[in-house]
Amino acid sequence: MIRSRENSKLVYRQNVNTQVKLRPLKRSDLQHINRILDNPQVYKFFNFQPPLSLSKTLDWFEEVKKKRKEGECFVAVADKVPIGWCYGFLNARIKKKILLFLSPHIRGIKRANLGYLAAIVVDPRHAKERIGEKLLKKWQNYLRRRGAKGIWLGVNSDNVAAKKLYEKFNFKLIGSINNFKKRKDGSIVNQDIYIKLMVEP
Ligand SMILES: CC(C)(COP(=O)(O)OP(=O)(O)OC[C@H]1O[C@@H](n2cnc3c(N)ncnc32)[C@H](O)[C@@H]1OP(=O)(O)O)[C@@H](O)C(=O)NCCC(=O)NCCS
Repeated sequence: MIRSRENSKLVYRQNVNTQVKLRPLKRSDLQHINRILDNPQVYKFFNFQPPLSLSKTLDWFEEVKKKRKEGECFVAVADKVPIGWCYGFLNARIKKKILLFLSPHIRGIKRANLGYLAAIVVDPRHAKERIGEKLLKKWQNYLRRRGAKGIWLGVNSDNVAAKKLYEKFNFKLIGSINNFKKRKDGSIVNQDIYIKLMVEP
């Protein structure tokens, strides 16, 4: 762990020099993805209850393959082992509730040019090593090349780490859906909606 002084506050940051390679998702990544998702620090922020079966992950893999014209899932690999991924695509279906928030911000942007960030995950053992940043940068640039004029996403309101990452990338909070989900422990979570425009509409 590296101890450094940033903005006159002491910041603890893990090994920022972890060498990662970023490449598209492969079928052989799925067992590693399941292992990473099977961690309460991760699944807490998703809508499933573990254990996650490999067949479910396989369904997701097939979906990623089908959507390859409109998006991509990039995987971060360190020492040949997948340790994170970032997935999203253009032209996602948008629920009415979310569209209410998005509409004023996406005037003039065709759905085919609107990107959706579906998931970004980093193995908690590699947290705060800037892997999330690397993945998001790669995926965002890829989507921009595919014609994205804006990107939106939804995130649990209590997901401090993810919100910090999105805000660092200039995503703007545009609304919040109350009572989005109830966790097993009974707590109620809201969903924050963010958008980033790649060019002014
Ligand atoms: C969100 C997530 C992808 C961030 O990945 P990461 O590789 O640890 O993040 P990075 O090292 O690239 O850090 C990016 C910024 O976020 C901040 N950050 C990361 N984890 C943080 C935490 N636990 N608390 C506060 N800030 C945090 C970093 O400090 C950094 O900002 P800074 O430069 O101002 O310090 C990771 O925490 C994760 O996988 N969470 C579980 C899954 C999830 O919630 N995904 C999002 C919903 S789809």
